[in-house]
Amino acid sequence: MCGIVAYIGPRDAYPILISGLRRLEYRGYDSAGVCLLSEDLNIYKCKGKVSDLEEYVVGKNLSGNVGMAHTRWATHGEPNYINAHPHFSQNKTLAIIHNGIIENYAVLRSELINRGYKFASETDTEVLVHLIEDIISNENVAVEEAVRIALNQVIGAYAIVIIAREFPDKIIAARKGSPMVIGVGEGEFFVASDATPIVEYTNNVVYLNDEEIAIIERDHDLRIKTIRNQSQTPYIQKLELSLSEIEKGGFDHFMLKEIYEQPRSIYDSMRGRIHVAEGIVSLGGIKDYEQKIINAKRIIITACGTSWHAGLVGEYLIEDLARIPVEVEYSSEFRYRNPVLYEDDVVLAISQSGETADTLAAIDLAKSKGATVLGICNVVGSSIARATHAGVYTHAGPEIGVASTKAFTAQVAVLTLIGLLLAQKKGTLPKSEFVKLLFELDAIPAKVERILKLNDKIKAIAHIYKDVKNSLYLGRGYNFPVALEGALKLKEISYIHAEGYPAAEMKHGPIALIDELMPVVFIATRRGIYDKVITNIEEVKARKGKIIAIITEGDESVKRLADHYIEIPDSEEMLIPLLATVPLQMLSYHIAVMRNCNVDQPRNLAKSVTVE
Ligand code: M6R
Repeated sequence: MCGIVAYIGPRDAYPILISGLRRLEYRGYDSAGVCLLSEDLNIYKCKGKVSDLEEYVVGKNLSGNVGMAHTRWATHGEPNYINAHPHFSQNKTLAIIHNGIIENYAVLRSELINRGYKFASETDTEVLVHLIEDIISNENVAVEEAVRIALNQVIGAYAIVIIAREFPDKIIAARKGSPMVIGVGEGEFFVASDATPIVEYTNNVVYLNDEEIAIIERDHDLRIKTIRNQSQTPYIQKLELSLSEIEKGGFDHFMLKEIYEQPRSIYDSMRGRIHVAEGIVSLGGIKDYEQKIINAKRIIITACGTSWHAGLVGEYLIEDLARIPVEVEYSSEFRYRNPVLYEDDVVLAISQSGETADTLAAIDLAKSKGATVLGICNVVGSSIARATHAGVYTHAGPEIGVASTKAFTAQVAVLTLIGLLLAQKKGTLPKSEFVKLLFELDAIPAKVERILKLNDKIKAIAHIYKDVKNSLYLGRGYNFPVALEGALKLKEISYIHAEGYPAAEMKHGPIALIDELMPVVFIATRRGIYDKVITNIEEVKARKGKIIAIITEGDESVKRLADHYIEIPDSEEMLIPLLATVPLQMLSYHIAVMRNCNVDQPRNLAKSVTVE
């Protein structure tokens, strides 16, 4: 939540900051602001999106080659001009931007009020900048030392940048629990919440670790120290990200581009890991942990949102393929419910962003109980990727649309590989079945390609249902998590109420909702307990519900029952989620566009949820 970007160097800072903010807007978009240092610290901010800020600053003094900017997802204080970042210290010599939550802000705030500080905003952030000013004036220390002392008093999560009027050649950045990456150019530095604002200027980056402070000075080397005052050597890494990967590439929305990237992203997530000719699967990232997983009494998968849905598919896959018991936990519940954990448990944390606060906390909990924690992350070098003992990256490429699409299918592809790897090591599958699954898996990208060709048909169905108020998504077995994911996609981007349910559970309650106004999306592919799903379709039809069915190509039985159908290629039952999810993503996308919703930036949401 919240995107931060900063620059110091020879160029004009404003264009760099504003284009950086546009790239980070997926992280929050309720207000935005910029601070530029020329003669003075100039702060401009407003409610709304980055485009509103761009309009607001027209005619203002935008000079300065030191600056920082922020796009906000509100936690403390409503989204408005006052609460937007940057925030000034009381004497206006310091300015701050912040991503995270200062949990003890109320205590610090009342202490500062007692010492005469006046607060302009309702944010937790403003506490920090007043505190730093207070330390500078009372202890007569340099700004970086004041930041260090202040951060020792803070409980919570932060990624901050501070600019001081009296030190025009310096910016200070620090992080704990919220991501921060520093781009190291020729005589210039960039700071951002992720690498997307940096990639067009340099591919040399330093990922700041928790409780580290970076002192970034024009014409000097980058210095890093911990909040306990220990110097650290900056570890410069090469970015593997290209500009084209983070642009829309001719698509109207990032979400649509990302849906269409799935043949490639699924393929990339399997490349070098699935060896069809040899009949083997290898996953280098968890090689050293294979035995540990095989010996595990159980695997606990923890994740949030779409990644949790992928985790449910993972449960079915790993139990089916490798006969290891699996439990799937919402990270937000797991972290607070005193779960029973043993040292021989393996915890698998799934996250696209690698920054989700609840999943990070679940990982910490599992590690503290001695469990082995492995990750499935998309963002290389992210907090979760670093907090886990080992892991497997999904190679989906940057996912910018807030609604997760290609990350889900990439996660499911990787979970399938994990299931197959464990089956291979444990010998739980006959070789012929194993090889058949490899062939089928290898064929998935081409099959997704075929599904994408159904766009016009799916758009026509979207047009019929774009104005409904409610909808139900039903599936059984492997298609139950697909139903959950289909419903989440629709509700988060179109604001239509949507419920995902196991189809057979319908008769225990949701069936009461069904009438001629209720569209019911059935994932009714011809595998698994298909006959039972047909019965569930009949039950809906008898109550006049409208049926939209995702069916296997050529399935005449469901065609006869459904009001609308979308035919997808056949595959092995356990691989169907990789296919059936795609038309549901497309259906949600078209409905949301027809309802004039902001598809890439749905209201109240942010791409990575770095607060609990
Ligand atoms: O980055 P993560 O995978 O950890 O994010 C988890 C959820 O916040 C995320 O999947 C969210 O539910 C998406 N908006 C779903 O489209």
